[in-house]
Amino acid sequence: MRKFDLEHVYESQQFDSELLDIIFNVADEMKKDLAAEQRRYSQVLNDKIMASLFYEPSTRTRFSFESAMARLGGSILTTENAKEFSSASKGETLYDSTKVMCGYADLIVMRHNEPGSAKMAAEASSVPVINAGDGSGQHPTQALLDLYTIRDCFPAVDNLSIAMVGDLKYGRTVRSLSYLLTKYDNITIYFVSPSVCKMDDDIKDYLTVNNVEWKDESSLEKVLPLVDCVYMTRIQRERFHDPEDYEQAAGKYIIDVEQAGLMKKESIIMHPLPRVDEISQKVDNDPRAQYFQQARNGLFIRMALLLLLLGNDIDD
Ligand code: CP
Repeated sequence: MRKFDLEHVYESQQFDSELLDIIFNVADEMKKDLAAEQRRYSQVLNDKIMASLFYEPSTRTRFSFESAMARLGGSILTTENAKEFSSASKGETLYDSTKVMCGYADLIVMRHNEPGSAKMAAEASSVPVINAGDGSGQHPTQALLDLYTIRDCFPAVDNLSIAMVGDLKYGRTVRSLSYLLTKYDNITIYFVSPSVCKMDDDIKDYLTVNNVEWKDESSLEKVLPLVDCVYMTRIQRERFHDPEDYEQAAGKYIIDVEQAGLMKKESIIMHPLPRVDEISQKVDNDPRAQYFQQARNGLFIRMALLLLLLGNDIDD
């Protein structure tokens, strides 16, 4: 049987269908273990140390990785805002910081503002590096938890129509998820975005080559009745170079109770979070709203990745 054979996780193109199945099976096992009275995996990483180096803010990714490591019995080295409180503020390069940190930790989880930074760090590191978001590049562990959530609701994943809505230019989660969706059959993606933040051609070309149908759309109302999943995203003010572009894009696409009423009964609403105004709080009690469960699923996926990357396969 195929073994998990990745040394690092820096982009979604690293995963094939078999690796996805391995990760999802271990994540299912972690979910079961956390609910069990007698836990089997609570100390399995008790001799391991994870460094969490976040040069950009995070709630879900950082805390779910730290929670995942703690729930497996491991230890954590961390700093508030690595940009300010690590020696990056004195001019140390990411290359040097990585070379040093891999002497202290068994695995590094890193969020950085530069696309490609995680891959560069992985090349410099003697221990596994996990990309927790590299600027507007990728967020592969988010894509894994997104797909895990989709799979919970639609086990085959094949034949789904998905609307990706909002900031598709700077949004790394939609980029990473697009790559993973190519592993399934008969997928259609609608890209619904303001004209100033459309999905880039590299992703569209990749989808075309890999037989995923995609369409650009500007009307959310038109797309909502057609899709099985609507994946909302925040307009990322911090990544816009021109404040006028941001103003043009902000607040354009919102799911409120009325908009949710246009969606199919069996469809789902997702969001990587944080949200600003993209989904009204009134939608939270709609059974189709999956975004808080989605965030919770991040814990199971990240426990699975820590186990697999640190060489601990689960018992049969
Ligand atoms: N979804 C996500 O990456 O959230 P954080 O920025 O809070 O980690």
